[in-house]
Amino acid sequence: PLALILAAMLGYLLGSVPFGLLVTRAMGLDDPRGIGSGNIGATNVLRTGSKPAALATLLLDGGKGAVAVLVARALSGADAAQVAGLAAFLGHLYPVWLKFRGGKGVATFIGTLLALAWPVGIATCGTWLVAAVVTRRSSLGALVSAALAAVWAGFLGYGAMSILILILATLVFWRHRTNIARILNGTEPRIGRK
Ligand code: G3P
Repeated sequence: PLALILAAMLGYLLGSVPFGLLVTRAMGLDDPRGIGSGNIGATNVLRTGSKPAALATLLLDGGKGAVAVLVARALSGADAAQVAGLAAFLGHLYPVWLKFRGGKGVATFIGTLLALAWPVGIATCGTWLVAAVVTRRSSLGALVSAALAAVWAGFLGYGAMSILILILATLVFWRHRTNIARILNGTEPRIGRK
């Protein structure tokens, strides 16, 4: 129990680091909260016009989820790893430092999955890529890949993770509710557009 509480704290602390803000600030770019969708994630950081900033945000937001899982697993095993992954994801969505107004969780979701069960992470990342490229919408990549992640887990022999994955995927959908409304009325912008 103590180990799980520590894993949750470690995960939340890592997950709550808002790399989209730190990267744009360090590079002297616009605050992503004032442009585009107002989100702090890589898709909206790309709307500052800087591909390197978007890539750095993607890798760092994904990396923090992976690091939380790997550290917790090394210190106290598989249960702690799952708790740390969930906590990192929640930290990204609801960071205390930003009055709990965080991101939509896609990069952290995939980074966490890669560290928890890499085949599921790769399949989910691939699904994101295909759906995002085909539809030209990052949010559609997120929704399709989140919806299929638990299916991939079942296929690939990680059925024991499906409850955790369904919780994460449900939160990804919840955080994309304004995107879903825009998709439905045809106003969701293409990747790289405002
Ligand atoms: O990762 C978030 C992405 O799916 C949508 O981002 O800024 O277009 O709402 P955005």
